[in-house]
Amino acid sequence: MKITSAEFVMSNSDVAKCPKNPIPEYAFIGRSNVGKSSLINMLTNRKSLAKTSGRPGKTQLINHFIINNNWFLVDLPGYGYARVSKTSKKTFQKFITNYFEQRQQLVSAFVLVDIRHEPQKIDLEFMEYLGENGIPFGIIFTKADKLKPNAIDRNVEKYGNVLLETWEELPPYFITSSSKKIGQDELLDFIEATNEEIEQLRNQ
Ligand code: GTP
Ligand code: MG
Repeated sequence: MKITSAEFVMSNSDVAKCPKNPIPEYAFIGRSNVGKSSLINMLTNRKSLAKTSGRPGKTQLINHFIINNNWFLVDLPGYGYARVSKTSKKTFQKFITNYFEQRQQLVSAFVLVDIRHEPQKIDLEFMEYLGENGIPFGIIFTKADKLKPNAIDRNVEKYGNVLLETWEELPPYFITSSSKKIGQDELLDFIEATNEEIEQLRNQ
């Protein structure tokens, strides 16, 4: 998919106030600092559409971006940031869970995980939460520029094996680097194909 336009729409912490356009929506979630905002900039070929920072906790609200005037990308605050909470349950802020449970337009979440790390409990718990709520998701491995190709393969395989201990099948997954622009085509093609499927279902 070619990006012809990418615009910030609004930020807020109340799912009821999110934009009303009945268009497909994709949301990026994951630990603070994993690279959610950077990925939005990489995908849209914009330097600072979404605000990024080296310090965790930069994104604090639900941020809607409209892409090509026909679908939304959503940048969310990170979870697992110590200042927010201690227990893992409370780590998922209420307005974030409200967003996932109530947002009608949401087609798929993408859970971002740093490709360098072993599977983390909090990410596995969040995937579990999405599954329990019937929310489709994919996994986006970030910061692939930090590892050599064989380490990438090894870590992705390890991640898959851990998931298969609790899941029957693996979700779609993508290997990305925002700094090296890896994974842009794969991710945009996936979204484009999903948008087309939705369009076809609507026209039936
Ligand atoms: P919060 O908004 O705090 O939850 O963080 P975030 O997940 O939006 O992370 P953000 O995009 O702000 O990036 C965090 C840090 O990681 C920044 O210093 C980025 O430059 C860096 N970063 C993001 N993506 C990549 C990547 O693909 N490769 C490398 N090397 N660094 C990255
Ligand atoms: Mg952010």
